[in-house]
Amino acid sequence: MESVSEPWSRLAPDYERARSREDSLDRLVEWPAQRALLGDVSGVSFLDLGCGNGGKLLELVEDGAAASVGIDISGNFIRHGRADLELVQADLSHLASVPEIEGRTFDRIMFLQSFGYAVDPVRTLRTARSLLSPDGYILLTRTQPIRYAIERAEANGTSLGEGYFARDPHAHRNGWNEEITLTKRPYTMSDLLNTFSAAGLWVETTLEPQLSEADGERYPHKQAWMDKYLGILIFKLLPLPTGAQAPAA
Ligand SMILES: C[S@@+](CC[C@H](N)C(=O)[O-])C[C@H]1O[C@@H](n2cnc3c(N)ncnc32)[C@H](O)[C@@H]1O
Repeated sequence: MESVSEPWSRLAPDYERARSREDSLDRLVEWPAQRALLGDVSGVSFLDLGCGNGGKLLELVEDGAAASVGIDISGNFIRHGRADLELVQADLSHLASVPEIEGRTFDRIMFLQSFGYAVDPVRTLRTARSLLSPDGYILLTRTQPIRYAIERAEANGTSLGEGYFARDPHAHRNGWNEEITLTKRPYTMSDLLNTFSAAGLWVETTLEPQLSEADGERYPHKQAWMDKYLGILIFKLLPLPTGAQAPAA
C-alpha cells in the first residue's frame, strides 16, 4: 500500500505554487500567525520537519536565526547559497537515522501542516522533544479536525458527529492538484491533546488564526472558506518537567 507521504514526491511543486499565490491562506493567515508566535528569531536555531521547499526557513535565517535544518520527504528544495541553512531529504518518522541532525539540539522545532504524516505520532513527537535545547519548544500546526468532519459528512451523507468520530482513513482531494489524492487518518481534538500528553509535552498556547477584516473583504472566497472550514490550529508545546509525564502508551 502507498504510504501517506508518497504522493508528496509529485504534489510538492503544486503545493508551493498554490502557497505562493497572493490569496493563499498560508500567506494571508497561517505564516503571519506562525511568525507572530515565534517572535524575534535572532540567534535562535530551527529544525523544520516537513519544511516544504524550505522557503519559510530561509526567511527565518535571513531574519537572523542561527544555523538551521529543514527536513522534507519530497526533496523539492529552493536553491540558496547559505552555509547556515541545510535542507535535507528525509522522513520525519525516522529522525534518528538523519546524520545531519545527529548529536544536535534546536531551540525551535516546527511541524507546520506536516505532523499528520508521522507514522507513529507519539514516537515522532518524543524524538522531537529529545532534540530540543533547554528552553526550546515545538511549534505544531494542524488543520481543524472539524474541517475533515464536514467533508466526510458531506461526502458520505452522514451527520457532522459521524464525520467527526469516524475512524477509517479517508481519501482527501486537496486543493493543489485534483489528480492526486491524499489519505487522511481521522483525528479529534482529544486525539491531538492526548498525543501531546503522551509525548511528555504541555500546551502553552493555542491559536486559531483568522483572516483580517480587510483581507476578508478583499478575498471574499477565502472568507467563505474560513467561515465553513475554520482554518488551522497552532500549538506551542513545551516539555513537561521530568517526573510529570504521562506513562508510555
Ligand atoms: C502541507 S505541506 C506543508 C509544508 C510547509 N511546512 C509549510 O508550512 O508550507 C506538508 C509537507 O510535509 C511533507 N511530508 C509529508 N510526509 C513527510 C514525511 N514522512 N517526512 C517528511 N516530510 C513529509 C511534504 O512533502 C510537504 O512538504
